[in-house]
Formats: sequence, structure tokens, C-alpha cells
Amino acid sequence: MSDLNTHVGPKNFSDKFALNFTKFLRFLADTFFKKRYGHRAVVLETVAAVPGMVAGMLIHFKSLRKMEDDRGWIKLLLDEAENERMHLMTFIHIAKPNLLERIIILIAQAIFIVTYSLIYIISQRTAHRIVGYFEEEAVRSYTEYLHELETGKIKDQPAPEIAINYWNLPLNSTLKDVVRVIRDDEAGHRDVNHNFANLIDSRNTFKKSEYTKEYKTENKSSKQQVKK
Ligand SMILES: [Fe+2]
Ligand SMILES: [Fe+2]
Repeated sequence: MSDLNTHVGPKNFSDKFALNFTKFLRFLADTFFKKRYGHRAVVLETVAAVPGMVAGMLIHFKSLRKMEDDRGWIKLLLDEAENERMHLMTFIHIAKPNLLERIIILIAQAIFIVTYSLIYIISQRTAHRIVGYFEEEAVRSYTEYLHELETGKIKDQPAPEIAINYWNLPLNSTLKDVVRVIRDDEAGHRDVNHNFANLIDSRNTFKKSEYTKEYKTENKSSKQQVKK
């Protein structure tokens, strides 16, 4: 199980942009949903299932264009999208969105697909860092939800059948157990996406060092030629 309290401190502009973008969306969500955790989960999971699909699709097309291996990234990202969609399929049994929330879901999906695709095309690293930070917030929100369930502020209820089947939970599981496994999933996505951003960094550093090496060798040989 991943550590629930992991936080990646921002190191550069890309990280700061990702963190502030996340904080801004968190502020909007907190203002709108307050403590209505079931409704919050339904609406936000409709957004959470977008990045994996967009990223997987864009890497798929890039792999075709460049005739390059994806190193397993597509599968991981599509699995993430599917897992987030299952969170939604679960929470829809816990809370039914009202008309306003349904309208928000439609608008949010249209805006988020376009925005996330653009960010991904402009800076793949920033896009993965954003999801890393989204997931840090998701872990926090589900911890709060769990606390409300454990203290009885929100009434616990039997786990939906779809969740019992998907996560192989015992038949007498309750919403608390479901929130726990979903929180673990979010922590997993957080680590995968932060790692993707870090991998892009190390790939860029490697490319830079290779370029410097090449530049130095070329420079050396041209100096030797001049001497001759
Ligand atoms: Fe989720
Ligand atoms: Fe998530």
C-alpha cells in the first residue's frame, strides 16, 4: 500500500503551475460541495477519468507517428482511466447527482478534455504533475470522507454490489471499506503520475548530457583538424 501522506514539493515553474492549478480547482470544489462527499465524489470522478484516457490516446498516436515503443505507458494510463470510471460507477450508487450537477458534469468534461489535451501537448511533464497533485488532493478528500463515516457524521451503508465484485471485497463490506480501497487506488495513481513527471525529467537530463557530450567531441575534433 502506498504512503497516504506523500507530497511532492514543487521544484520549478512546471511544478508550481501544476500545484496552483490543482489548488484553484480544489478551492472551487470545496466551495461548491462543502461536506457533500458523495456528490463531490460523483462529479469529480467524472473528471478524474479523463486524463488517463487523453494521455493514453496521445501517446498511442505519438507511438504510431514516431514508430517508437511506448514503454508500457499506454496500458498504465488506460488502466488508470478505467479504474477512475469504476470509482464513478460505484459512487453513482451512493449519491445521485442533481440537475445542476449534471450540467456541471457536461460543461466540466468539455472544458477539461480540451484543457488537459492542450497542457499534455505543450508540456507532458506538467500534465502528469497535475494529475499527481490532483491525486494528492483525492487522497486527502477520501480521508476526510472516511473520517465522517467513522465518526458517524455520515451514515455508513452496505457497499454497492459493483464495488464488492470489482475490488473482491467481503460480502458484508460497507461504504467505509469501499472508500478505503478507492483511496488506495488514488494513492497509486498519484505515485504513477509523479513518477512519469520525474521520468520525463531524467530523460531530458540524459538527452542534454548526451548533447553536451556530442558537442564537446565535435568541438575537440574540429580543433584538432584546425591544428593540423
Ligand atoms: Fe477516483
Ligand atoms: Fe483519482
